[in-house]
Amino acid sequence: MEIIDTAAAMTAISRQAHREGKRVGFVPTMGALHRGHISLVRAAHEQTDIVVASIFVNPTQFGPAEDFSKYPRTFAKDSVMLAAEKTNYIFSPSVEEMYPKGATTWVDVEGLSGKLDGRSRPGHFRGVTTVVSKLFNIVQPDLAFFGQKDAAQVAVIRKMVRDLNFPVRIVVCPIIREIDALAMSSRNAYLNPEQRNQALVLSQALQKVEKLAAQGETSAETLIAAGRQAMALEPSVRLDYLEVVNPDTLEPVPDVGQGALVAVAAYVGTTRLIDNLLIPAR
Ligand code: PAJ
Repeated sequence: MEIIDTAAAMTAISRQAHREGKRVGFVPTMGALHRGHISLVRAAHEQTDIVVASIFVNPTQFGPAEDFSKYPRTFAKDSVMLAAEKTNYIFSPSVEEMYPKGATTWVDVEGLSGKLDGRSRPGHFRGVTTVVSKLFNIVQPDLAFFGQKDAAQVAVIRKMVRDLNFPVRIVVCPIIREIDALAMSSRNAYLNPEQRNQALVLSQALQKVEKLAAQGETSAETLIAAGRQAMALEPSVRLDYLEVVNPDTLEPVPDVGQGALVAVAAYVGTTRLIDNLLIPAR
């Protein structure tokens, strides 16, 4: 495994791999890796010849009052985990390498970037799409792997790839959970034991919605009410949103008969957690 920190070196490696007829798989991350990230690396190995994982805590996707400076940075541990997975390259540029002084160009998926997390975190998705565009241009992957955990991010990236003709196929991998169903997240590291327990209410609310839907309930209003009621069982957890939407447009849908995304975001203390459930078409 090699650690690469300049865009030029990373692009040269990808070009060489392509000349050799190899397919490049890419897993973008912000580090503080857990089994969710590793599942993406494994999927990349199954489907491509060379796997590149990036570790870059992207300042432009954090709001001014958000956790950029305290976001967990565990590079030594991350690189051991990635080496154990036989990752071929880690791309870990500095902020100056990614955002040289004077850069003023943004990629913004209008409309979608203001939905769900984009509504609560203005500018967040503009930061994500800008950095992912840059990473795609630098790494030049054939396939790029994203987690369903960040369902709105998936919708925004897919639309960006279509709208801007990026020559990459997006592969979405299932949510990896802790044994008690809490969705794995780098931000779970912020939770104290009491909050860790309170955080279970997100997956429990989704499980309740899933059960009702499996029993035949299709009304989004009814499912949302049930989900909110379940969230209210943990009053210390502050709900940001619980919505039933089309997974591609992120627009609310009145019923889930054609399939739907149930997405939830909530604050446990000051930590913002997200989770979601895909209801299949009936
Ligand atoms: P990060 O939060 O580090 O997540 C990197 C990738 O891991 C994302 O595609 C995310 O959906 C996936 N992931 C996180 N938790 C997961 C879980 N429990 N199960 C499955 N996949 C999971 O998402 C970002 O970084 C950034 O926005 C990034 C795309 C790197 C741009 O900066």
